[in-house]
Amino acid sequence: MKDVREYVLKTPAGGVKKYDHDALCDYLEVDDRSRVIFEQGVGREAIVRVYPANPLMNMRSIRIEDLLLDDRGFITIGSYYDGVPLKFRLFDPRTGNAQRAAVFGTTGAGKSRLVQAILVACKVSGIVVHLADLKSGQSVPEANGQVATRVTAQFETILMLRGLVAEAHRRMKAYAEMGRSGFVKNDPDPLVYGIVDEANRLLEKGAPFREEGAYLIKELGRTGRSVGVGIIIAAQAGHLEELGGSDTLRAMLKEGEVVLLRWSSGMMQQLVGDGLVPRGEALQPIPKVVGRVQRVRRYNEVATEDADDVNSQGMLYHLTAARPTSMARTFIVGSVTPCTGYDPVILDLYGPAAPPGEQINLPAYITDKELEAVANRDTAAAGPGGTATTTLPHAEAGGAATAAQAGPVSTAQRILAALPADGMTVPDLMTALNADGGREVRRGTVLTTISTLRNDGKVARPDGSGLVIPIPAG
Ligand SMILES: Nc1ncnc2c1ncn2[C@@H]1O[C@H](COP(=O)(O)OP(=O)(O)OP(=O)(O)O)[C@@H](O)[C@H]1O
Ligand SMILES: [Mg+2]
Repeated sequence: MKDVREYVLKTPAGGVKKYDHDALCDYLEVDDRSRVIFEQGVGREAIVRVYPANPLMNMRSIRIEDLLLDDRGFITIGSYYDGVPLKFRLFDPRTGNAQRAAVFGTTGAGKSRLVQAILVACKVSGIVVHLADLKSGQSVPEANGQVATRVTAQFETILMLRGLVAEAHRRMKAYAEMGRSGFVKNDPDPLVYGIVDEANRLLEKGAPFREEGAYLIKELGRTGRSVGVGIIIAAQAGHLEELGGSDTLRAMLKEGEVVLLRWSSGMMQQLVGDGLVPRGEALQPIPKVVGRVQRVRRYNEVATEDADDVNSQGMLYHLTAARPTSMARTFIVGSVTPCTGYDPVILDLYGPAAPPGEQINLPAYITDKELEAVANRDTAAAGPGGTATTTLPHAEAGGAATAAQAGPVSTAQRILAALPADGMTVPDLMTALNADGGREVRRGTVLTTISTLRNDGKVARPDGSGLVIPIPAG
């Protein structure tokens, strides 16, 4: 490694507690901060390397071989700055344990691409995946048809998680009866993962199923691991308050695998404050733009055109691996320029085979109370301005509990029928209502009806989202 300067530093016992990368770079007289890599070693040693350019800038594309489980249950998702492979564990054959993992990072940091790699790995390794893509299916669109279950709305996610918890409980009982203390892959049950991308949407304050979502995820973390039912979440939020606010969730994440992609400073403070990232403040920051020189421009200097383009996507720390403070990066997953449809590179990774496993029967996990609420919607008293008579096919939770009923239908009922589980904006709702075959509705009527429904606890309107979201009674 010529052209690389290396310094071995003595640090205080227990390592550096608070790390100031800028100060170090100034001391070394290096303008491009991303060329300097700091790594706290074990004990009192740290290494500083000064590269000609950031060593993680030329990642290769991920290959299908990287994503096949090795005999210790790891896949390779990228590499550390010094070329050592970056591994991610999906299974522990020694203990039979499934994993629980969380991928954190600010928006655009590369969470969903990493999730996509994990999804491919699961498919090609025969691991059954039940996926919630809470950005209406837009985070990992190529997963459509490549996983056993795919849901894109919050209520369906709850049903999916209920199904996973039920499966974990079933296995616990069945294995106990077999006299078996742990999980043996594919004998008779496959390894299963619940994966929730944009988990913050399910768990943030004001989310309609926050409490149950947090409960189900932590229950999976608690009971699923030893029976081959794992859980992986990707979230933008840092704070536990934004992740259901539960202590037990913290316990689950502390014992699970944690991958941290580029963060914002506020997010880091929260993660450290919550104890999710024990030594966060000793981590060298991941810059948004790698290779940018931080200095004042003189009057005759102009910035290059791409000086502000984000180019550090996929850079991360694998905080629970053997090298928690070594900067690493995922391989390139998929096309680097936007595609007009599904990304062909990603589809190619998934391959043409059908995904392993069977879809969770979501309607089976709707409670009686929720079913009743659906039925009540169809027989509810007419809301303001509602006198139209139409027969509405009423689909709830992806075709579950279909109850087509004849009779007078109020504007309130029509609104509830038109709303998908993840909500709709008022303009879209107007369009849907005026296409449902009923009487033409006016915007004023719709708005007053929504406000009545909100007072009755039947819909929510989270601030800033512009959405009207149905709340199942319960
Ligand atoms: N591993 C990767 N390989 C190639 N491109 C990547 C990778 N990770 C991220 N990118 C690029 O960065 C963009 C954002 O990545 P991604 O969608 O994974 O971020 P995210 O963290 O899920 O963001 P959000 O919070 O907005 O969902 C991608 O569209 C892609 O262009
Ligand atoms: Mg995403």
